[in-house]
Amino acid sequence: MDESDISSEGNVTVFDTTLRDGEQSPGAALGVNEKLEVARALEGMGVDIIEAGFPISSPGDLRAVQQISEEIRDCIICGLTRANREDIDAAAEALEKAARPRIHTGLGVSDVHIRRKLRTDREQALQWGVDAVKYAKRFVEDVQYYAEDAGRADPSYLYQVLEAVINAGATVVNVPDTTGYTTPEEFGSLIRGIMDNVANIDRAVVSVHCHNDLGMATANTLAGVVNGARQVEVTVNGIGERAGNSSLEEVVMALRTRSDFFNLDTGIEARRLYPTSRLVSELMSIAVQPNKAIVGANAFAHSSGIHQDGVLKERTTYEIINPRDVGAPESAIILSARSGRHGLRHRLEQLGHSLDDEQFEKVYQRFLEVADKKKAVDTRDLEAIVADEARIFFEETYHLEHVQVSCGNNSIPTATVRMRGPDGEIICDADYGTGPVDAVYRAINRVIGEQNELIEFSVQAATEGIDAVGRVTIRIQADEPVNGTQRTVYSGHGADTDIVVASAKAYTFALNRLIAARREAQG
Ligand code: KIV
Ligand code: ZN
Repeated sequence: MDESDISSEGNVTVFDTTLRDGEQSPGAALGVNEKLEVARALEGMGVDIIEAGFPISSPGDLRAVQQISEEIRDCIICGLTRANREDIDAAAEALEKAARPRIHTGLGVSDVHIRRKLRTDREQALQWGVDAVKYAKRFVEDVQYYAEDAGRADPSYLYQVLEAVINAGATVVNVPDTTGYTTPEEFGSLIRGIMDNVANIDRAVVSVHCHNDLGMATANTLAGVVNGARQVEVTVNGIGERAGNSSLEEVVMALRTRSDFFNLDTGIEARRLYPTSRLVSELMSIAVQPNKAIVGANAFAHSSGIHQDGVLKERTTYEIINPRDVGAPESAIILSARSGRHGLRHRLEQLGHSLDDEQFEKVYQRFLEVADKKKAVDTRDLEAIVADEARIFFEETYHLEHVQVSCGNNSIPTATVRMRGPDGEIICDADYGTGPVDAVYRAINRVIGEQNELIEFSVQAATEGIDAVGRVTIRIQADEPVNGTQRTVYSGHGADTDIVVASAKAYTFALNRLIAARREAQG
């Protein structure tokens, strides 16, 4: 039996907020179909609760929570609200079809939140919280209360609030370190204080929600668990507001790898950690830092000779987790054009990609092109191809058919693009710029005409070597908020052995996503 299979029943419940707090990261906005795809992956991984969105925030968010509620049956589906009736009505509407709905309501408990943000006093804030819980209980049995900025609150006031909201019917009380301010010792003591001082705490589950502003989110979450919390609020890859939230994969694997210390576990299927991390990273166009614990590209790479020698003799000399147990692929497996359809299909399945025939054919054709240029195609190339060809969950309004660039040190960089438009018409245009990428972007702008500013552009090589597949990630800012939402930043990615082509694909991707978001917001 593998270490990862020790328990399939968790005694710490996993509350995933990738689709709510995670999606608040700039440029991480997803469309409804993309959110559904992430929700399916979370369900497949064994997450207990999916916080699917903040329904009042936009019609698109409300629809996403509705569709996730309809489709996902094995998880509790949760919607976030502020402590007011309008928000709670929207969440109740969005969760109507959920098998097990939960409303997550609450408001600030620190003095700075109460006095400056809510412009009220402690007594009034407590009353609003109690009223919100009572109102939410009209719609659902399961109501979770968040005491925002609990990490900087006066503990005695926090105890009063928690006791009052539990009396009002809260089934779960969430203790967030909203600003990522506390240290593990302090946060652990805060949870211990709650367990010891809130008279009715045995009637609710204590949840912890930690932010990573000082890099202590995972440590704080675990300190909370050690001191009595039994629900952890986490996101895939640790994405979220500012420096992010506690990372799901870190918390899950810390509890599992150090079960001798924690004596607790979750019901997460660890082999789904790596594929789910890739999916979220690709859909949100947020790269995972290479040294990220558990899911980073270097998490299991041993580069020094001494370490390599040790691992070859005995894996556990320098490895505390078997990479296979978290679903990390062995990149050493190489394919070539001769591997054929069967070989490619088999490898993709091993990597956790089940593609329909149409998606597979697109991936296969791209694979042949890359294999032709590179000869040896490894896992990282394949991941980049799949991301490009098979993971587009919104309608592509414009398709890039052809891009051609001329540049050099004594010439004016000039680009010509040919695109297929919304009605299948072919549109060709050309422009020049300060460099080849600028020229391509200008040419695409002439075709699509969507006003925006490029705010981020990055290129990464998927593999080593001069013939590597280049992966371009970009973020664009629309000149105006897209209808029904304040979101203006959209991301895109593209991969190709030619980075100018990859840039053109990434830009087209981001523009299509912006156009799709506008269409979605219009209903
Ligand atoms: O960080 C926070 O306090 C939150 C709450 C809305 C739960 O995200
Ligand atoms: Zn948060």
